[in-house]
Amino acid sequence: MQTGIFISFEGIDGAGKSSHLQAVADAFRLQGKTLVQTREPGGTALAEKLRELVLHDAMDPLCEALLVFAARRDHLQQVIEPALARGEVVLCDRFTDATFAYQGGGRGFDLQVLSQLEQWVQALPDGRLRQPDLTVWFEINPAVAAQRLAAARVPDRFESQPQTFFQLVHEAYEARARAEAQRFARIAADAPMEAVRQAVLNALSASGLLQAEAT
Ligand code: TYD
Repeated sequence: MQTGIFISFEGIDGAGKSSHLQAVADAFRLQGKTLVQTREPGGTALAEKLRELVLHDAMDPLCEALLVFAARRDHLQQVIEPALARGEVVLCDRFTDATFAYQGGGRGFDLQVLSQLEQWVQALPDGRLRQPDLTVWFEINPAVAAQRLAAARVPDRFESQPQTFFQLVHEAYEARARAEAQRFARIAADAPMEAVRQAVLNALSASGLLQAEAT
């Protein structure tokens, strides 16, 4: 029986989600929870190899979609499902919403094929679909995110895309958030960092997943 909590963190490159993931982890730890902090693509030895390919090697959109879902399948089986079965909290830096946003929105890949892959990869033995209990979406204007990214590191295959790509990614996140509004906590990520951090912790308390005193 699953008793754990599964939370994913999403946003376009430059939205700043990774910095806030740490604050969420600290808040859960303060409440004595056992945590698994992980990411996609990645989170297992095999999935990390696939991540390298997806982020750095040229490939066609179907190949890209298959690789991110292959990585996800391994990650679910090796890490996420066992942790949830042990009653732990899984904090995952990106999950399937990123595939709908980047491969679906950004690359324009067929959403129905992505939905089919989602059904296969995330099916549970009882027929339900594994989805995060909550998805924290760092919502930011793509122009602001682009400015932040310009100051950062050597870009990968996604970070090097033009702003128009991120506009499409943003719109696809928006569509997912609208379709599954009860699962999404929308965070205005162009606010100052401390305000964003507080908004994330408030959203987790409001969802009932984190006790209020941790915020
Ligand atoms: P990101 O999560 O931003 O990590 P880092 O902070 O180390 O750069 O990088 C992962 C990239 O992979 C990001 O640009 C989005 C992309 N991605 C997809 O295209 N599809 C997916 O399904 C996932 C999970 C990520």
